[in-house]
Amino acid sequence: MNARRIAQVVLGIFLGAAACGNSWAQKAEGLANTPQMGWNSWNKFACNIDEHLIRETADAMVKTGLKDAGYQYVNIDDCWQGQRDADGNIQPDPKRFPSGMKALADYVHAKGLKLGIYSDAGATTCDGRPGSRGHEYQDARTYARWGIDYVKYDWCNTPDMNAKAAYTTMRDAIAQSGRPMLFSMCEWGMSKPWEWAGQVAHSWRTTPDIYNCFDCEFSPGLSTGLGVLRILDRQAGLRKFAGPGHWNDMDMLEVGNGMSEDEDRAQLSIWAMMASPLILGNDLRSMSESTRRILTNPGVIAVDQDRLGVEALRVLADGPLEIYAKPLDGGQWALMFLNRSTQAIDVHHDWKAQVLTDDLSKRSVDFKQTVYRWSDLWTKKTGDTSTTLQARLAPHSVLMLLLTGPAKS
Ligand code: GLA
Repeated sequence: MNARRIAQVVLGIFLGAAACGNSWAQKAEGLANTPQMGWNSWNKFACNIDEHLIRETADAMVKTGLKDAGYQYVNIDDCWQGQRDADGNIQPDPKRFPSGMKALADYVHAKGLKLGIYSDAGATTCDGRPGSRGHEYQDARTYARWGIDYVKYDWCNTPDMNAKAAYTTMRDAIAQSGRPMLFSMCEWGMSKPWEWAGQVAHSWRTTPDIYNCFDCEFSPGLSTGLGVLRILDRQAGLRKFAGPGHWNDMDMLEVGNGMSEDEDRAQLSIWAMMASPLILGNDLRSMSESTRRILTNPGVIAVDQDRLGVEALRVLADGPLEIYAKPLDGGQWALMFLNRSTQAIDVHHDWKAQVLTDDLSKRSVDFKQTVYRWSDLWTKKTGDTSTTLQARLAPHSVLMLLLTGPAKS
């Protein structure tokens, strides 16, 4: 055998071994071409969950129009777990989920929705239930058998573990289970997952947990909770890492959990501009009509779900006023004017003063050359960019515009 032939044989053996092993496993394609939309139990209910809540939430998601608006995952967070059986198979808590997860998945699927579950890369979850460490393949097979569609995978109790290795193991385990499941990493941005997780997961959390307020921070002991603006500020520099199939996850929504309506509208708008997953965190069974209308705003959801999948860039920061621009499919743009302060501010925006440019998507608009029509996605007002935009922004509010055009040149 000559040297070239030996090299071919060695390469063949290597490729064969790799194909048989797990190192070529892939996350399921096509599950998150746009950011995932759904609901999760944690923000409102923490450990106070059971199968009735999950069923009623699925019912409410359909009845309130949230399903028609695009929300499809019903995700059970921490505290569903009971003990492992003698063979190491994870069981749901028999008191809270007496009918078992397969029956619950069947119920949710019959509504045209999907069921998500939660585990942790460590031996125990954040709330002390059994985690998946050492059981990754077994747990993924169990989830597949139950008919699970989405796995959120947390990072508590992992002091000696490497995030890339641990999340890759679970990705491979899910791939080998044979059931496509969306893989949502929840590692809080500690190991800069945006730099390495594009092939590993469909989304990765970029920050510590959200805290239910617009502009504050909460640090009990070692854990931190961040308000809406603090999470937004931590997205700086991350937009180039996200796109179809791999998203920066800004954590779940707090809309309907007690912020003001302006703040609720602002959170949904910011998350949509940043192409974050939209995972509801409120009680869908008892939400007010105004919360329902906020969460189902079709124009704002369409911005989040735009097929280009480009996150907004900040084009202006002027004291409390910031402007974000998101290039959209078909030459459109979304523009968001954000008032960060607790005082109202007046906006006078001369469109022609600045060329709107995004180096990442290689798109730009010179409003001196081209007139775009705009429509306000919350108030439905319309106008165009030939005249200065005048608006009063209430405290902690946004003005969110869809720009279509050109109207005329
Ligand atoms: C962590 C996660 C939260 C939630 C809890 C559950 O804090 O970041 O989103 O899943 O654990 O214990």
